[in-house]
Amino acid sequence: MKILHLSDLHLFKQETPDLTEEKEAGLIIGSIVKRWKSDHDKPVILVTGDIVDDGQEKQFIKAKEILEPLKANGFEQVYIPGNHDYGPNGSHACAKKFKFFKKYLYGPDYRITYPDVPISTDDVSIIALNSMKSELGFFDSLLADGELGNKQLDELAEIIDDIRDSKGRGHIILVALHHHPFLYPDDDLFSKLGEWFGHYLKDGADFMKIVSNRIDALLFGHEHRHIDFSKEFPEFKLTDKYRIPVILSNGKSTEKHHPARLLTIERNQPIKVEELHL
Ligand SMILES: [Fe+2]
Repeated sequence: MKILHLSDLHLFKQETPDLTEEKEAGLIIGSIVKRWKSDHDKPVILVTGDIVDDGQEKQFIKAKEILEPLKANGFEQVYIPGNHDYGPNGSHACAKKFKFFKKYLYGPDYRITYPDVPISTDDVSIIALNSMKSELGFFDSLLADGELGNKQLDELAEIIDDIRDSKGRGHIILVALHHHPFLYPDDDLFSKLGEWFGHYLKDGADFMKIVSNRIDALLFGHEHRHIDFSKEFPEFKLTDKYRIPVILSNGKSTEKHHPARLLTIERNQPIKVEELHL
């Protein structure tokens, strides 16, 4: 199986007038379709959150239109919610916005609860998490931090056990979420304070205890930094620390160079990771 990892499209942010997120997303989608249109082995398109910028219904309606060529050309898609999908500028989460996310990205009849296992073959299972699930209280909902919540964490542990029991050795488990579950090793004190104040995954340490040495790949976005943790920060090699061979944060895919990664996954084989600029 091939998985194309994108993240943080932020459609309708309009960060710079000459580089709109919608135009860049259109280029990315066009490039994906052109590259794999006639392949039998099309990659699953996995987007780790912040598909739109403010969680507005009209933004999701247009996002659906922009993403439509993927569906029309037979690509499987997995969308994971981020803080910007839940509210204005990603800093005021509202459960109602998540209904728009589900309705327009998955269809009005699609039932989805997290943890979700959208894909499970003999070779690989993808587990999708919602790092906004426990961020909807009155004060919780403010700022850009995330929280998986105890229920989702307990269910995640059970799902990993079930998959390991039923699929046997050599099966690849990939977990994807929006928020980064640990602080970046090169954050200075000022950055760390900002993270603690309102940007990080509050129960990230509990999450990492559950997945350490139990999964094969961990993918996320949110920070807009494009990092392969098996290669960067050799003095703090997080893939060794957490005993997860592949840990990847994806940059904002609608930035000019369209950072993306293609993962090729086969049972009993190391995951192959290729950097792509679509
Ligand atoms: Fe985010």
